[in-house]
Amino acid sequence: MGRTRRAAGRRIDSLAKWLLKFRIIAIPARIIAGSSLAWSLVSRTDRIRTNRLKDKILKDTRPEHISIIMDGNRRFAWSREIETKVGHERGKEKLKQVMDWVLDLNIQYLSVYALSTENIKERSQEELNSLYELYTEGLNEMANDPKIHNMKVKVQAVGRLEMLPENVRNAIKNIEEKTSSYSDFLFTVCLAYGGREEIVDAVRKVADEHSKGEITLEEIDTKKISSKLYTANLPDPDLVIRTSGEERISNFLLWQIAYSELHFTDVHWPSFSKQDLYEAIDSYQSRRRRYGE
Ligand code: FPP
Ligand code: MG
Repeated sequence: MGRTRRAAGRRIDSLAKWLLKFRIIAIPARIIAGSSLAWSLVSRTDRIRTNRLKDKILKDTRPEHISIIMDGNRRFAWSREIETKVGHERGKEKLKQVMDWVLDLNIQYLSVYALSTENIKERSQEELNSLYELYTEGLNEMANDPKIHNMKVKVQAVGRLEMLPENVRNAIKNIEEKTSSYSDFLFTVCLAYGGREEIVDAVRKVADEHSKGEITLEEIDTKKISSKLYTANLPDPDLVIRTSGEERISNFLLWQIAYSELHFTDVHWPSFSKQDLYEAIDSYQSRRRRYGE
């Protein structure tokens, strides 16, 4: 919404500047350009537009499982000349908001890419430490969030969790324990996650069963592999959203996205708005209508 509002604000500003050329309307034009009235008009229009889109998407079949590659925290920070750490913090806050929006749409499965195995290799220890702090904080906040309990949201983390420091693993254990009896919604955080690594781990489990004589070679099929993935307890994503302009999958849920719709948006993750989420779902629905299941 911020992006649209800024764009609309810029349009009003330039209209007002143009009006300023004519002396007779200089005063009202100055008032419009600097007024909170103009901003509230724009934000009201944005809200109405978002609510209309919500009504529209509620009339059609919603995706059952949305997966998000939350990208662009650092670019968000750099473009505002704020610390990288603050960009990630805003990203964490955004995730909590997006969870609310997804729950409000009654979408049962949400999974997010919060840290890749690649990130662990590439990022500085300082950045990783601040990210680990954020995951710990964010997961603990979620574990105490009444909404999680009222809506019966089960929360789980998947990935090579042994690569994570103890504080993060404790926060994961805590939230998984506190939400283990819930099944209305399932929220999956992919941490120290890599799609290829997940497939390798699944193949190892299958090979182990085969070597023990528990399954024959013929019994190894796509269903068998799926059942050994970290995500065995959730359906494949219907819609994958990636923010911040990159049009790549970057080792996220490689096996599971075979038939998913992909939606790329230019907004950085911390700026991702409700309107952006609804637009992604709207585009998913129109593609499904066009091409069928
Ligand atoms: C990608 O942006 C983002 C990350 C690597 C971290 C994402 C983490 C959060 C949103 C917090 C999640 C919190 C919980 C509780 C799971 P980037 O750093 O790659 O930014 P860039 O693409 O601009 O460089
Ligand atoms: Mg990135």
